[in-house]
Amino acid sequence: MSDHAKPKKTPKPPKAHGWMAEYADDNQLLDAARKVKDSGYTRIDAFTPFAVHGIDEAIGIKPTALPWFTLCAGFAGLTVALTMEYWMNAVDYPYIISGKPYASWPAFIPVAFELTVLFSAFTTVFAMLGLNGLPRFSSPFFSNPKFDRTTDDRFFLWIGSSDKYFNSEKVQSLLTSTGALSVEEVREDDSPSDIPKPIIFAIIAGILVTLIPGAIVLNMRNAKSGESRLHVFFDMDFQPSRHTQTSTAMFADGRVQRPPVPGTVARGELGATDPYTLGYDPSQTVSTDSATAAAKLVSFQQDGEVAGDESKGAEASETPAVEPSETEPTDAEGVAAEEVTADPGAQPAADEAAPAAAAGVPNYAWLTELPVEANGELFELGRHKFEQHCALCHGYGGYGNGLVAQRAAELAQGYWLQPANLHDQAIEEQPVGRIYYTITHGKGKMGSYAASLTPEERWAVVAYVKALQRSQNAQPSDIPTRGDIAQ
Ligand code: HEC
Repeated sequence: MSDHAKPKKTPKPPKAHGWMAEYADDNQLLDAARKVKDSGYTRIDAFTPFAVHGIDEAIGIKPTALPWFTLCAGFAGLTVALTMEYWMNAVDYPYIISGKPYASWPAFIPVAFELTVLFSAFTTVFAMLGLNGLPRFSSPFFSNPKFDRTTDDRFFLWIGSSDKYFNSEKVQSLLTSTGALSVEEVREDDSPSDIPKPIIFAIIAGILVTLIPGAIVLNMRNAKSGESRLHVFFDMDFQPSRHTQTSTAMFADGRVQRPPVPGTVARGELGATDPYTLGYDPSQTVSTDSATAAAKLVSFQQDGEVAGDESKGAEASETPAVEPSETEPTDAEGVAAEEVTADPGAQPAADEAAPAAAAGVPNYAWLTELPVEANGELFELGRHKFEQHCALCHGYGGYGNGLVAQRAAELAQGYWLQPANLHDQAIEEQPVGRIYYTITHGKGKMGSYAASLTPEERWAVVAYVKALQRSQNAQPSDIPTRGDIAQ
């Protein structure tokens, strides 16, 4: 192919494109057009400065096929829209919206309408251009300066050389006989058909400009910046929010971190009488102090006096015997009611129960053994969840030096309470059920993780915490001997 293109063409006279005749008014043009058509020619065209009524008929122009393109495109748009909506809403991502069925045809109408219009509009424009052979930079007619007056006050009739009856002399004499002002041969345009350079440059520049926003976005997604982001829309970026461990006047108990609403049962939390979900055995419960973390926190913030002491009394003795209290404080001031079970057999010495109670933790019959099988999978889950939820405060090693704690120390926030060092002897000695309880209910300023961790995940975290404690206190005897390995 390129072999043909390479040798430079010897300049040949341009091929004939037909003959054109010039007329002074539209009536002459119409008469001439009818005559030419009646002579059997079909490759005829007329060029006029304004729309001439009856000219289509006179030169035998068939109605355009454009409406068919539009109709087909409209149906294509409709089909695409309905298929897409059905697929998205009813098959790929079934999602109930306003109680409608997944395949809700009335709801599909707006999008279907839009796509129908979109497809048909674009197709109409492009098909119109295509059917007219547009865009083109040049036409054979432009080579004759007389033709310029077709936009002003002259009417032209053209017979194409591609007509099957075309004969140069006959056509010329026919046109002359129609009383034309002039009859001239139109030759094929031999000007270069290349796209002009400025247009190519403009197209390239246009493409480059459209790439800029994408490039900026790509750069932003991959670059790191210390600057805070641009707040085009504020959304909820700036709110009158409070820091986690502060107090607020908005709630009666003054607590920023909200405890669960009393009496509500979270999803999946039903039937929590099982030691597995509680962390202790309710049938062996010895004494409860339901002074909650919330009440303690507020009293702590209001210069350390312990709330709830006055409410002991008549009520307490009426409390049914073996019933562990999971209830939250019920009165408006957030003052905790105290319940003491009357099972003398299981009750430990009063002073033994006191330290735990004073710290806001009831004295239950904690589980001392994991209620789940301790295997690698469990520890792996525990490690994962610990690093996700606990390490930020307690640190990856459990020493209470997580990033949040470090940052708080750096800011020297007065209200911050150092997260516990999980390797403190007191915590190391805690039974597994007690750690589980801490995760479930929080303690002091540490919030509850019951909403973020399932009981299974909580036990996994407990197992991991125990492993972590052991890992930090390894004894020489923990190192396997040659004999152990051989086995
Ligand atoms: C927002 C910071 C923070 C996060 C996150 C956090 N804790 Fe704590 N944790 C604390 C603070 C503060 C204390 C000390 C509370 C007190 O003694 O009043 C504490 C105390 C503890 C204690 C000791 C309780 C006791 O009886 O003295 C344990 C065990 C514990 N956390 C485990 C966890 C586990 C497990 C997780 C992850 C599920 C976790 N913590 C997540 C801040 C946090």
